[in-house]
Amino acid sequence: MLRLGALLLIAIALPMWGAQPVRGRHGMVVTRERHATAAGLRVLQSGGNAVDAAVAVGFALAVTHPSAGNIGGGGFMLVRMADGRTAFLDFRERAPQAASRNMYLDASGKATEDSTIGYRASGVPGTVRGLEYAAHKFGTRPWAELVHPAVELAAKGFSLSYAQAQSLRESAPRLGRFAESKRIFLRDGKFYEAGDTFAQPELARTLERIERLGAKGFYEGETARLLARDMQEHGGLITEADLAGYKCIERVPLLGKYRSYDIMTSPPPSSGGIGILEMLGILEGSGYEKGGAGSAAVVHWMTEAMRRYFADRAEHLGDPEFFHVPVAELLAPERLAKLRAAIDPERATPSAQVRAGVFTDHESKETTHYSIADAEGNIALVTYTLNGGYGSKVTATGLGFLLNNEMDDFAAQPGSPNMFGLVQGEANAIQPRKTPLSSMVPTLVLKDGKPYLVLGSPGGPTIITTVLETLVNVIDFHMNVQDAVNWPRFHHQWMPDTLRVERGYSPDTVTLLEQRGYTIERINSQGECAAILFAGGWMEGAADPRTEGTAEGY
Ligand code: DON
Repeated sequence: MLRLGALLLIAIALPMWGAQPVRGRHGMVVTRERHATAAGLRVLQSGGNAVDAAVAVGFALAVTHPSAGNIGGGGFMLVRMADGRTAFLDFRERAPQAASRNMYLDASGKATEDSTIGYRASGVPGTVRGLEYAAHKFGTRPWAELVHPAVELAAKGFSLSYAQAQSLRESAPRLGRFAESKRIFLRDGKFYEAGDTFAQPELARTLERIERLGAKGFYEGETARLLARDMQEHGGLITEADLAGYKCIERVPLLGKYRSYDIMTSPPPSSGGIGILEMLGILEGSGYEKGGAGSAAVVHWMTEAMRRYFADRAEHLGDPEFFHVPVAELLAPERLAKLRAAIDPERATPSAQVRAGVFTDHESKETTHYSIADAEGNIALVTYTLNGGYGSKVTATGLGFLLNNEMDDFAAQPGSPNMFGLVQGEANAIQPRKTPLSSMVPTLVLKDGKPYLVLGSPGGPTIITTVLETLVNVIDFHMNVQDAVNWPRFHHQWMPDTLRVERGYSPDTVTLLEQRGYTIERINSQGECAAILFAGGWMEGAADPRTEGTAEGY
């Protein structure tokens, strides 16, 4: 009896192995929030394809996950249709026409907080244009049918979870600085509790205009006029012309190989796809995996790959419309072989130059990723964001939606760290209409030419390392997809020269890493991966237990 009890206890204490994904044969939706997951699944079940569902989820999350889901921000969608068509939709925010290189520096040349909070922090939002582009090019259902679930959720409200209510409450010090945000999200200080119904009538009206008029109902007419006026009255830069001129850019996905797998991932202005391919290229052939998942040796090799990639990121990556990104040179096999050879298998390489990169972890930083697959074999992966949690904290007056603070993804002051402690260079300096460099990296792995694994995550620069780690957990460490998502994570970004390690790593492993020369920072949680694995005719969906994400299949 006692022995059985002990065994049960061990099983409960070790949820990492054999954790079960959600399985479906006909469709799978993995998102950060249950109402949005349900909205996506309903679209699939009523005959919509993966892109239709992705559009519906994008609008639903704008209502039910206000810290990151959005119509006031932007993002990327990676699409692979069963007929072989692929696309990378870049609907990321762009700098307004009136933006300028030094707009976030004060008279003494010091960076101000304006790139992170308030009206001046926002780039021109791209989400609505991007979702419309996706629906027109790849979708099959009427537009209104895809927007309507969000209108309903906003108009009638939905029941807040404990974590949602807590998140709103915790954001009070900054959200509360803006009257409209304070009224809508903080109920003027009478905070929402778990189980309360959260209705957003202004947002419902804004979404209704989008439902009726398409993206024009956002970028022109009443919404555009009200937003531009609000901007003007509060020193913001976005004008009606900026809004009317916003375009979604269709790019070609970045392709690479890892072992026998093909990787289809995010091209610039994402820095992430190059990151995934560069780090995989350094690791392949190193034998790094021999130490076994979770070993100090594996963490060491992967960290050294991360450090080398992030040093490149700071220097070489930016908006390809404004800056030549040397993609082929960065990923050249001879170069990667040299980087690999320079890694000491036993000792940490100190980051070349120590600058004052600090993680400013005092505010929640959120983005969100969702992954969708349908019965025909179409796939739509979206990572979109307001940048920081609740973006700039500004709610557009009378419109009910939060605006992004994506301008902070530029190097406000080349050479100085941004909100994520990222040091970035001239390649990512501010210019009118330029797109800030991103870490968002929706990624698809193909095996024998067929989709095998799809994934993505929020988390600023940790997006790239979270995706890398989950991918190798499946490919190199043979974990099932839920275990791969659950597995403890770590992150190094060259500057600051600190290895951040989730608490799931044992103190013994951490000691071994310290002995190899690493400075360790223990963290509670990194990233929030939403993955789908295709295995034996099943779609296996894995939401991340670090948050309230859900997977639903049928
Ligand atoms: O595009 C980027 O890299 C950032 N704006 C992403 C921000 C983010 O992931 C915050 N999340 N947790």
